[in-house]
Amino acid sequence: MVHGSLPHLATMWHIDLTIRDDTWPATRPAWRCAAPAAVRMAPMKAFSFITPAVAEYLVGHTTPPDQVLKELAEETLTATGDDSGMQISPEQGTFLTMITQICGARNAVEVGTFTGYSSICIARGLPEDGRLTCFDVSDEWTSIARKYWEKARVADRVELRLGPAAETLREFPLRPEIDLAFIDADKPGYPVYYEAVMSRLAPGGVILVDNTLRRGTVADYTDGDAAAMREFNDLVYGDPRVTSTLLPIADGLTFIRKH
Ligand SMILES: C[S@@+](CC[C@H](N)C(=O)[O-])C[C@H]1O[C@@H](n2cnc3c(N)ncnc32)[C@H](O)[C@@H]1O
Repeated sequence: MVHGSLPHLATMWHIDLTIRDDTWPATRPAWRCAAPAAVRMAPMKAFSFITPAVAEYLVGHTTPPDQVLKELAEETLTATGDDSGMQISPEQGTFLTMITQICGARNAVEVGTFTGYSSICIARGLPEDGRLTCFDVSDEWTSIARKYWEKARVADRVELRLGPAAETLREFPLRPEIDLAFIDADKPGYPVYYEAVMSRLAPGGVILVDNTLRRGTVADYTDGDAAAMREFNDLVYGDPRVTSTLLPIADGLTFIRKH
């Protein structure tokens, strides 16, 4: 466990680690509190410089989407109006392709496909014989995805399972193990999707989860609407099977690696 190695590292680097318990989330799961008394944590500094201008700069310095993804974004806006806001952002798309490549993933799953933007980004990171299985309830929205899988020339490696993901994931085989999963469907379903994926995930496998900052509302403990996401974030944080980090990309993207 990570905490177990801290005193050793602190001694090596001559670091004075001092516990500041008020910096921990109030709802932290019990096992994370179990650091030995000798382990003293450095005060964590909270800071943010991500103003709208910085966000724009950041997007402007990320490899942009190609013509197919741009067309898909335009068609999604025309076809779905306000719902088009559910699509992942271009910089997340670039990140998904890179992570899929870096992990060397062959067997990937996506929970929440909508019109297909993120699925194309993941599929493009897979090798030619790789597979992406997509789970979604909407025939209407995924019909646009099907069209763009063809346009993006990834249709041969993508399969769609229509229906409530809690059920379709249950029927999904345990083998071959999943190398990479992206969860971006209905938020109350996240704990179920997380567990279903985790039980099929290879050691070293990766789960990416979208919207985990909920526009920052997760940090406002008076905001009841964000409670489900806070509970999910606590669940991941307290899961001894994984190492995780919550990245402030777009609406928050949690990066989880199974031990
Ligand atoms: C935020 S969108 C996904 C966006 C997509 N990742 C993209 O980049 O365009 C959420 C999707 O989850 C699907 N969804 C909602 N509830 C679901 C459920 N119970 N099972 C499976 N899919 C569900 C919706 O149909 C919708 O397409």
